[in-house]
Amino acid sequence: MNYTRDSFHSRIGFVLAAAGSAIGLGNIWGFPTQAANNGGGAFVLVYLIVTVLLALPALYAEMYIGNQAQKNPVGALQDACKNVSRNLGKWAGLFGLLGAVLMLSFYSIVAGWMLSHALSPLMALLGFTELSSWLADSSFARNLAFTPIFIILSALIINKGVHAGIERWSSRLMPILFVLLIGLIIYILQQPGASEGVAMYLQPDFSQLKNPQLIISAMGQAFFSLSIGVGGMMVYGSYMKKSADMGKLVISIGALDTLIAFLAGLLIIPTLFVAQHMGQEVFVDGQLIGGPQLIFSVLPTLFESMGDIGIYVSLVFFSLMSMAALTSTISSTEVPVAYLVEDKNLPRTKATAIVSLIVLAACMSIVFNFDTLFGLVITWVNSFQLPIMGLFYFIVVGWIWKRGNQLNDAALLASKPSLKFWGNYLRYVCPAMLSVVFINVLMSL
Ligand code: PFF
Repeated sequence: MNYTRDSFHSRIGFVLAAAGSAIGLGNIWGFPTQAANNGGGAFVLVYLIVTVLLALPALYAEMYIGNQAQKNPVGALQDACKNVSRNLGKWAGLFGLLGAVLMLSFYSIVAGWMLSHALSPLMALLGFTELSSWLADSSFARNLAFTPIFIILSALIINKGVHAGIERWSSRLMPILFVLLIGLIIYILQQPGASEGVAMYLQPDFSQLKNPQLIISAMGQAFFSLSIGVGGMMVYGSYMKKSADMGKLVISIGALDTLIAFLAGLLIIPTLFVAQHMGQEVFVDGQLIGGPQLIFSVLPTLFESMGDIGIYVSLVFFSLMSMAALTSTISSTEVPVAYLVEDKNLPRTKATAIVSLIVLAACMSIVFNFDTLFGLVITWVNSFQLPIMGLFYFIVVGWIWKRGNQLNDAALLASKPSLKFWGNYLRYVCPAMLSVVFINVLMSL
């Protein structure tokens, strides 16, 4: 193969791209609703513990494999497993690739909803009232239009490559996202009713700690939030120089992801209480409304009731959601694209087009069978794909590499005794903890 591998050009570009993958709808929508319904601050506490003990090591394992191999996830896992069986690595890599496509198949649909909701206030401002309400109303036709639009947006970035596409766009969008989020929080916290939301979010209901479901929910949320298990972080790690200190970089990515999730809680939960103050029903059977109803019904109604300013608030909020979604979809799209370019020798544009068409076909299968497939695919990805792959990464890093694989840099390990502790932690403690949680997930289904 006679092409030079593209790469990230700076550490900050890499951190922003990986944080962009991590920070997505899971942070801004998933985390706040899980927190609200699982004991507020108690969930936040358990989430932090699970992130540090289990999710960050899994992220490290995933990125480290990619970084050491300097290859796409299929090639990287093949190399990493070569002393046991290259086929095992290959099939694990392909399983991750399937996960990336499945994750994109539901995520792109939801991202399309965010985009149409962002355009709706813009159209209202321009005087296209009918178009504005069409954009805000969920419909089959809207899915048919906006899912492909979102897939094309991701494809345009991916087609440009790692530095000119992924790194450049993540470095642009992530700071904007942060500013918009802070601006929205400042505005919402000044509205009547918001302080009740802050209290609910930050005061832990410790009675919830006895609930084993809390740990399972927190782990699922942490893995999804850090994009672990579909190879997106592995492929990003592979575009970073081998000499980079992955441990430090992983901590920065985890810290940014957790900070944004925490801030999103400070936005969404108080916003719900502002909506309640304005007369909306936000609790159903004692549970705070969480699903699509929260984002696409409670919030738009609230924005409408705010008068003219509401149009701008809505525009900012849904633009924020769209940007968060876009920097997440590009990392999963890069997984199969990198595989086709490196292992099948396809030109990048062709690989991007093929992957986009496959993702579109998967999305359309869901759109046409929404009631049966949408929930099923989400459950598959969250409850099986991510923990199984997480476990596999631990086994690869902890066990398979030990057998004289050239990826295992013995000189480095010997020079740093502190790595021995982490080696054993990844080898024994992480897979054991993850297995226990995973068995519990299976039993709770
Ligand atoms: N981390 C993203 C979120 O929190 O919304 C979801 C995600 C993105 C998962 C990319 C997996 C992935 F490869």
